[in-house]
Amino acid sequence: MATSYDITPPGESGLELREPDRLLAFRDQFPILARTNYLISNSLGAVPAAAGTSLQAFYEAWATRGVRAWEEGWWSLVAELGDRVAPLIGARPGEVVFQPNVTLAHAVVFSAFDFVPSRPRIVTDAMHFPSILYLIDQLRRNGAEVRVVPSEDGISVDAGRLIDAIDERTALVSISHVLFQSAFIHDVAAIAARARAVGATTVIDGYQAVGAIPVAVHDLGIDVYIGGCLKWLCGGPGAAFLWVAPSIRTRWEPRLTGWMAHEQPFAFEPKLARRADAWRFLHGTPSIPALYAARPGLEIINQVGVAAIRARSVRQTQRLLDLAAAAGYRCTTPADPSRRGGTVAIDVENGLEIARSLKSLDILCDYRPGAGIRLSPHFYNRDDELDQAIAAIGEIRATGAWRAFTTRKPAVT
Ligand SMILES: Cc1ncc(COP(=O)(O)O)c(C=O)c1O
Repeated sequence: MATSYDITPPGESGLELREPDRLLAFRDQFPILARTNYLISNSLGAVPAAAGTSLQAFYEAWATRGVRAWEEGWWSLVAELGDRVAPLIGARPGEVVFQPNVTLAHAVVFSAFDFVPSRPRIVTDAMHFPSILYLIDQLRRNGAEVRVVPSEDGISVDAGRLIDAIDERTALVSISHVLFQSAFIHDVAAIAARARAVGATTVIDGYQAVGAIPVAVHDLGIDVYIGGCLKWLCGGPGAAFLWVAPSIRTRWEPRLTGWMAHEQPFAFEPKLARRADAWRFLHGTPSIPALYAARPGLEIINQVGVAAIRARSVRQTQRLLDLAAAAGYRCTTPADPSRRGGTVAIDVENGLEIARSLKSLDILCDYRPGAGIRLSPHFYNRDDELDQAIAAIGEIRATGAWRAFTTRKPAVT
C-alpha cells in the first residue's frame, strides 16, 4: 500500500552527523518533545507526527475506497507491517504477523499446547509481566503444572535457577526478554538452550526489548518471540506482533483461532484448513487503524537503527544511575550494562507522589510498586533532560512538593 506521508531522515547529510546529533535530529518528528521532558518510552513511546498523517490516510481509504480498501491493502497489513518488524528482531520477511496485543498473542500460542501427564510443566518466573502469569495460571485448568522461579533481589531472576527448573517434564518455558519492572535482561540463549535440550518450547515476551536492545530471534534458539509497538517502537496501542520459528509452525494447532488462519477465508468453509505460514496464528479482523498508527514509528526506528539506540541507551541509563548514586538514591536496575535494558528505576521514599509531581512539571515518567520511579530515555532524549529529571526529584523531595499529590488516584501510565 502506498504511503501518503513522508518520514524524512534528518537532512541529506544526516548520516554524516556525529552519532548523538544524528539521533537528536529525529526529535523534530515527535511533537510532544518540544514541550515535554519525555522519559516514559518504556510505557508509551512518543508519537511521530507522521502517525497523524497515516491515520488520516486510513480514513481517506475508508472514505474514498470503502470496502475495496480491504483488498487494496488493509487485509495484508498484518504481514506488511510484520516485514517492518522483522529487521528489528532478526527475522526474515514473512515470518512476523501482527496481533492486537501481547497478552492475546501469548494466549494464541498457549492455546496450542496439550499438557499431558508425561509433560505437564510450565516454567516461568515471578517477574514476568502479570498478564502472562494470569494466562499461565489459567492453564492449570488444562492440566498444566506451573513452576514460578522467584527473584531473590526484586531486580533479577537467576538464570541458573530457571535452568534447573526446566526438565524432561517441561512443555513450555515462558519468560520476558527484558523484565518490565527492573529492565533486567534475561540470558535468553542459555535458558532456551536448556529448554531445547529437553524438548521444551520457549516463548519469549520481548515487549520491553524490541526497539531498545538488539534482538536476533534466529540466534537465540527460541521458538516464539512476541512484542508490540506501543513502547520503544513509538507505534501506539493495538499493534503487537508474533514470530514463530518457521521450522515448528505447522506442528501447532492453536485452539484460539479464526477465519484469518484459514487457507481460503473467503470460501467461508465450516471446517478450518489452517495456513502453513505465519498467518496460521491469526484469528479475527485485525485492528487496522492501530496498524496505520504503528507504521511511521516502525519506519523511524528502522532508520535510526537499534544498534545506535542501544549504544545511546547504555550511555544514558548509566548517566541516570550515576546521577542517582550521587544524590544517594537506591536504584532497582542492574548496574551491569550488559544486563540492563532501557529503563532506570529509582526507589525513593514517596516515589508514587514524586512521579506525580514530576508529571505536573511536564517530566513524564512512571512509578511501579517495588521498582520505584522509572525513567526511560529513548534515542530522542537529550542528556540535559536526564539531568533535569534527577534535579527535579531532589527539589520535590527537598521542598516537600510531593505532598500535594498524596490523595489522587494513581494515573494510568
Ligand atoms: C513485558 C510486558 N509484557 C506484556 C505487557 C502487556 O501487554 P498487552 O497489554 O499488549 O497485553 C506489558 C505491558 O506493559 C509488558 O511490559
